[in-house]
Amino acid sequence: MPIVVKDLHYTYNAGTPWAVPALRGVSLTVGDGEFVGLVGPIGSGKSTLVQHLNGLLTPPPETVWVDGIDVGAYGVPRQVIRQRVGLVFQYPEHQLFAETVWADVAFGPRNMGLPAAEVAERVREALALVGLDADAYGDRSPFALSGGEQRRVALAGILAMRPRYLILDEPTAGLDPAGRRELLTLLLRLNRERGVAVVLVTHHLEDVAELSQKVVVMDQGRVALQGPLEQVLGAGQRAALKALGLEAPVAAQLVDELNRRGWRLPPHLVRAQDVVAAIAAVARTRAGDGGHVQ
Ligand SMILES: Nc1ncnc2c1ncn2[C@@H]1O[C@H](COP(=O)(O)OP(=O)(O)OP(=O)(O)O)[C@@H](O)[C@H]1O
Ligand SMILES: [Mg+2]
Repeated sequence: MPIVVKDLHYTYNAGTPWAVPALRGVSLTVGDGEFVGLVGPIGSGKSTLVQHLNGLLTPPPETVWVDGIDVGAYGVPRQVIRQRVGLVFQYPEHQLFAETVWADVAFGPRNMGLPAAEVAERVREALALVGLDADAYGDRSPFALSGGEQRRVALAGILAMRPRYLILDEPTAGLDPAGRRELLTLLLRLNRERGVAVVLVTHHLEDVAELSQKVVVMDQGRVALQGPLEQVLGAGQRAALKALGLEAPVAAQLVDELNRRGWRLPPHLVRAQDVVAAIAAVARTRAGDGGHVQ
């Protein structure tokens, strides 16, 4: 079952002189097990949108459905939605609060009313997923950890609820390249191996190109473009992306440049590995012809 958003509007400080329309009729679907990249310029409404998907901001009735549940309907407990839709903020470590790592990660599953043995199993599993050993870290204070470790603990706290959907709002901000790679690899594993649907909000179109099947581009509170990766970031939409101040991934720009020089690479390629393979194939043909590559 998907997450479905239909004509969602939201205005901050509505009815006051400080009213800011942030969402102006957003419609989209996040399919079961899909990996969706959500991009768009600063202030385009990405964070406001994702906060409606797990009930952190309450949508009006009949605008957001999670697995068929109308999130904004009267009487739907937030908890029910949050167990299904895990939301990881930009600096998730700011949400840590408990005295020990164990208690922090156990908070969600305990709140779900699960038996102690299952809570323990989930805490161990979630910590292992983020690369932390429960025995080594369980008793430590989350506040006495490094920034990277804190972020892992915060993510483990969400994973311990085993959400069907995982939404991350710029989760790699402030991480070093190794930390970034690790986090993105984890997201890919959760998606491919466990079927968790992922919505990744990011300004890094490279990451989107490497990971996503589907891309949603927001602009001024609306969905400007939405579709399969190669359709949205491929050659056909370059001008539209540029108009929004978004640069296509470097690999896609390389395809444009080489094609301008007479290569005939498939113009829709956006993933680095696909571009490398296509270049290698053309280079082999040219070498076979006795010609040389420019
Ligand atoms: N708490 C708030 N009060 C008032 N206006 C807000 C608030 N949060 C966001 N806005 C406004 O709502 C609009 C959408 O903001 P939002 O944070 O959703 O954008 P974003 O796409 O996540 O941007 P960024 O890429 O900078 O994170 C912007 O015009 C922003 O100024
Ligand atoms: Mg944001």
